[in-house]
Amino acid sequence: MHFPISHIAFAGLAFLAPFAEPAYIRDKTLPHMVDFEEAGDNCTEYSSPDAGTVCIHSPSDCSFPITAQIPFADPTGSTTYLVKADDTCNKIANLFGNFTISQFYYWNPDVGQTCFGLRAYVPVCINTPWYKFTPPVQPPAGTVDSSSLNPVPIMPNITPWCTKYELVGDGPAYSASSISAANGVTIDAFLNWNAGVSKTNPVLWSGYWVCVSVS
Ligand SMILES: *[C@@H]1O[C@H](CO)[C@@H](O)[C@H](O)[C@H]1NC(C)=O
Ligand SMILES: *[C@@H]1O[C@H](CO)[C@@H](O)[C@H](O)[C@H]1NC(C)=O
Repeated sequence: MHFPISHIAFAGLAFLAPFAEPAYIRDKTLPHMVDFEEAGDNCTEYSSPDAGTVCIHSPSDCSFPITAQIPFADPTGSTTYLVKADDTCNKIANLFGNFTISQFYYWNPDVGQTCFGLRAYVPVCINTPWYKFTPPVQPPAGTVDSSSLNPVPIMPNITPWCTKYELVGDGPAYSASSISAANGVTIDAFLNWNAGVSKTNPVLWSGYWVCVSVS
């Protein structure tokens, strides 16, 4: 029996199709085999042995590697960074030093304003073509901000009615009692607005924003 040559070629292609499917990138020569796939909900589905399968939301002009640019933790010119196990938003922003932490959150809404959503072994966006960095990465500790209302990272469980935040630093000047006194509010009010802070042992985390005023 004779098949036309095109028929044979087609049969061969069909067999290869699952591995050549453009929505899936499989490259066994890479240290971590990963898949990127367009999923519903405007997210990109990302799979790797370390991360499992997760859904990533990011601006469409942040180009996640659709070809084999992995490992893209490696730096120059890359628009993505592979999060490491002990990373925090502050660590990542300080590592690169070329975007603000609020901008990082804007690019990667999945991390949340607390940054608790940061996931190890999952890529994050660290650049878009239009972005122009205006330093600093984060203002100095003690800064009170009511202008942007989008400070990142914030202590967990801050009241949604917060209108002013202060960035916590190290040392006694940044205890709950010092900060509330400095902002002219009672410690009880302060602890109510910052519900993630223990009332019995109110420890504030250095590098996080706390609420110091509400509307
Ligand atoms: C996807 O993005 C478009 C454009 O930004 C938006 O209109 C739409 O509601 C989004 N869909 C979902 C499921 O979020
Ligand atoms: C920041 O620097 C890194 C490393 O050079 C680069 O990959 C990334 O695109 C830069 N991001 C911005 C916003 O300039």
